[in-house]
Amino acid sequence: MSKPGDDGEAVSPSTQVTQAGRRAEWTGIPGQPGGVVNPPVWRASTILYDDVAHLRAARGNSHERWYYGRRGTPTHWALADALTEMEPGAAGTMLFPSGVAAISCALMAVLKPGDQLLMVDSVYDPSRACCDKVLKPMGIETVYYDPMIGGAIADLMTERTRAIFMESPGSLTFEVQDVPAIVAAAKARDVVTLIDNTWATPLLFPAHSHGVDISILACTKYITGHSDVMLGSVTASAALFPRIEQTARLFGQICGADDAWLALRGLRTLAVRLKQHQESALSVARWLAARPEVGAVLHPALPSCPGHAQWARDFAGSSGLFSFTLKGADDAARARFIDALRHFGIGYSWGGFESLALPVDPQLCRSATIWPATDPLIRLHIGLEDSQDLIADLEQAFLRL
Ligand SMILES: Cc1ncc(COP(=O)(O)O)c(C=O)c1O
Repeated sequence: MSKPGDDGEAVSPSTQVTQAGRRAEWTGIPGQPGGVVNPPVWRASTILYDDVAHLRAARGNSHERWYYGRRGTPTHWALADALTEMEPGAAGTMLFPSGVAAISCALMAVLKPGDQLLMVDSVYDPSRACCDKVLKPMGIETVYYDPMIGGAIADLMTERTRAIFMESPGSLTFEVQDVPAIVAAAKARDVVTLIDNTWATPLLFPAHSHGVDISILACTKYITGHSDVMLGSVTASAALFPRIEQTARLFGQICGADDAWLALRGLRTLAVRLKQHQESALSVARWLAARPEVGAVLHPALPSCPGHAQWARDFAGSSGLFSFTLKGADDAARARFIDALRHFGIGYSWGGFESLALPVDPQLCRSATIWPATDPLIRLHIGLEDSQDLIADLEQAFLRL
């Protein structure tokens, strides 16, 4: 079946996401017309060959060719291909058993002993732990920088700077980075740029179109969308994909075929899910901003959020994750408030169809900047429930404060 876009026709990302990565060789039987919509789950360790000559010929096979289960199957390749297609300008995608595995492998691929990494101070804590507990003992220095630094990042670069890592917005405090300014400063010195793009996904922020070299997704969140899979991806430019591919293979990184299949299935509905997450999260965020119990609402689409201007300039929308402070409250009051919620689960992660509430303490995971708020912070993930039910739930929890 020919796809919109095959002949150069421009299609919108929400059309593309329903079809990306669908290839006849993964959905059909060779020699037979037609094929299924979704590639089947190809579970494999051993691949059997017709003879020794074919076995030997497969050894040198590159991406998307049978060799051995650790190099993936058509189920994996269909997902990887779809994620690459969603990032115009990217050359390829590798899959990992979690978002953290994807982040640490991408860093290992672009850095070597003696190098320096510039890492955003608002980064997801396990990414920071990789720098401090894995890269540092290897002789790779990490310098943390203010998420609002913009083009002034050039002042931090030295002869040893090889990579800049961004997470925009930060997944606890939601500062939106000036990605184009950072990318321009990096390109001027031939420094590699990486971004954790989990909050926006390529639908709301196609990172490679903004000049980023390597975009990373915790597919565990919105791509899969149903809170039942751990999965990560690294999508890289033509210059860097061979290094990502080689490092992932050397570390034996792969995910299960069932998980790849679930993620591809989730991807098909990403556009419509994100629209609803956006609409409901904005209703809840605006309602919270008007409550007397609330100090700051940190949502990139609200002018009060640091980096809102960058969000308005660069992003195609917002997703369902944001934070707010409880004015004048202490930790015990925050716990009482969260415990009183009925429609919000209490748990880590986000990006599924369910709403979640989490106490977060950004001051514990910063080193280059000081988190200014003294009021306790709560992170909400707004799921696909009716937003009026969620608002009523928050209201009854405020009454119990
Ligand atoms: C922003 C961000 N990046 C990466 C990850 C890691 O993903 P995973 O849980 O799949 O390892 C998370 C998980 O919460 C996250 O919030």
